[in-house]
Amino acid sequence: MTIDMDFVESQFPALAGRRYIYLDNAGGSLVLRGVADRVRDYLLTSSVQHGATYSKSREAGEKLYAAQEAVARLINARRPDEVIMGPSTTALLRILATALGETMAPGDEIIVSQAEHEANYGAWERLERKGVKIVEWPVEPGTLRLNPQTLAGLMSPRSKLVCCTHASNIMGTINPVREFADIAHAYGAKICVDAVAYAPHRLIDVQASDADYYAFSFYKVYGPHHAVLYGRYDDLVALPNQNHFFIEPTRVPYKFQPGNVNYELSYGCAAINDYLVELARRDVKAPASERDCLAAAFGMIARQEERICKRLLDYLETVPDVTIHGETSANAHVRVPTISFTVKDRDSADIVTQMDRHNIGIRYGDFYARRLIDSLGLRQRNGVVRVSMVHYNTLAEVDRLIDHLDPIIARNAAIHA
Ligand SMILES: Cc1ncc(COP(=O)(O)O)c(C=O)c1O
Repeated sequence: MTIDMDFVESQFPALAGRRYIYLDNAGGSLVLRGVADRVRDYLLTSSVQHGATYSKSREAGEKLYAAQEAVARLINARRPDEVIMGPSTTALLRILATALGETMAPGDEIIVSQAEHEANYGAWERLERKGVKIVEWPVEPGTLRLNPQTLAGLMSPRSKLVCCTHASNIMGTINPVREFADIAHAYGAKICVDAVAYAPHRLIDVQASDADYYAFSFYKVYGPHHAVLYGRYDDLVALPNQNHFFIEPTRVPYKFQPGNVNYELSYGCAAINDYLVELARRDVKAPASERDCLAAAFGMIARQEERICKRLLDYLETVPDVTIHGETSANAHVRVPTISFTVKDRDSADIVTQMDRHNIGIRYGDFYARRLIDSLGLRQRNGVVRVSMVHYNTLAEVDRLIDHLDPIIARNAAIHA
């Protein structure tokens, strides 16, 4: 079934009237009404400190645990304590890097893809101070894909960790992380996946991907500024404690959540599952189990994304001076609808800011994937123009973007003719 856009619109208050076109979703998505309601509800009914014996404290703790269970189901973790929550992916990966760093020795190697957002690069690069070597895994020239064979060629008995994105926040390319995980594991290394640019678009299955560590941020997945890091229970127990010295090593995820995790935002995140299940149930043939509904909802999302992505890519391909960075196919197996491009001899900022007055929010820059943008020689041109869509965007919105973009970028072709 195609997506029920009336239902979708009813769940995102910011879409009311479609007065603004939100196309910076890879920066941050709109928030579900259900998320905001749960945050409010928690704050107004359950705002007590957890861990005490009195009933209100126990009830509040149970609410938090139920939210942790919901996140575990969303990502298909084996158990809720494999879910570490924190303020951001950047902060969670720093904590993970500190913990893993304590287990590494000088000469150990970490392979990091060139396509990373700095969150999954800089945290590891800091370990160079203790003699760990960073080996950069370059993207393929032209396609900008991460090639598994290149990864295999970089692996050695010294390799301890591979770091890569599940989807690029610049190109939108979906990476075959299971294949990457198999290569890493064949060398006895672990793999740490940044799924921030993937999570809003496709169903996550940490078991199927066989990732050892997997992180993303809820503010890109229709939720609040909050994030999750997954790790296998046994691995988390074995890693050094990052909390107070008296926190037992078996207390996962608490040993990786120094201070209080944000209760109300964690609680709010459970509404993301509710939304996806409800979306699937708009179809009379919706499956019964929550997991199957999540899969069905992401199927609808992928189809809607492919339609709007194709419309924009088809247009951009007609403009002679435009270079699309990454996949030119809209195939939902190949990419998510995060599209970056540059226009010959043009500053990306100049193109983007001309959209502002039309109430269209797109964005330019390096999007903190600075190493990639530098390798493409695009820093001087203010990086790329990025149009990042999600399922609540429509063909009509893409057409309006094209209408306003066309005089600016197609005129470029005329100037250079
Ligand atoms: C691919 C990717 N990874 C990581 C991050 C960092 O996420 P956070 O802001 O939660 O640290 C971002 C943020 O834009 C991102 O796009």
